[in-house]
Amino acid sequence: MMLAYNVYLIGFMGTGKSAVASCLGSEYSLDVVEMDELLVKKEGESIANIFAQKGEKYFRERESSLLEEISTERNKVISCGGGVVLRKENVQRMRESGKIVLLTASAEVILERVKQDEGRPLLKGKKHPKEIHNLMEERRERYEEAADIIICTNGKSVKEISEELMEELKRVKERE
Ligand code: S3P
Repeated sequence: MMLAYNVYLIGFMGTGKSAVASCLGSEYSLDVVEMDELLVKKEGESIANIFAQKGEKYFRERESSLLEEISTERNKVISCGGGVVLRKENVQRMRESGKIVLLTASAEVILERVKQDEGRPLLKGKKHPKEIHNLMEERRERYEEAADIIICTNGKSVKEISEELMEELKRVKERE
């Protein structure tokens, strides 16, 4: 399948961006870009180490310049880091070069998905539904404002989410 634009998957940690991107890649032969993975490769450090040694501001700068590079390309499915919407310039770049798909999930479902994972510095010591809920609420407006399409992932398989996404994408393009 060829797309004349990029598909940006955004959403809170644990909403399934990476899993859905990888499924879209294999089911629809789309190229997948995993932002966090690329950043780790470029920096030669884990996300947790980048945060610990160089700080969140540095990480956000690297993230923005990676997004700037990616946004010059087309026909890619991009699994974004959960914090990509924190900078307006990032949202602007995504908007100009593709469609933005927000994946959502309840705090309980997110906790189930991330509880074993120590690689997310922002969730360190916050593995409780209330704390995840609060963090999500802080970002909710940014996520929703950026999104062209919103898909709730609670109780759905990765394949179901991917199919729903492609249907919605078709609808959005038909409306244009
Ligand atoms: C972050 C999300 C992470 C990663 C970093 C910061 C965030 O990506 O980029 O830990 O600010 O929400 P995932 O959403 O893939 O976990």
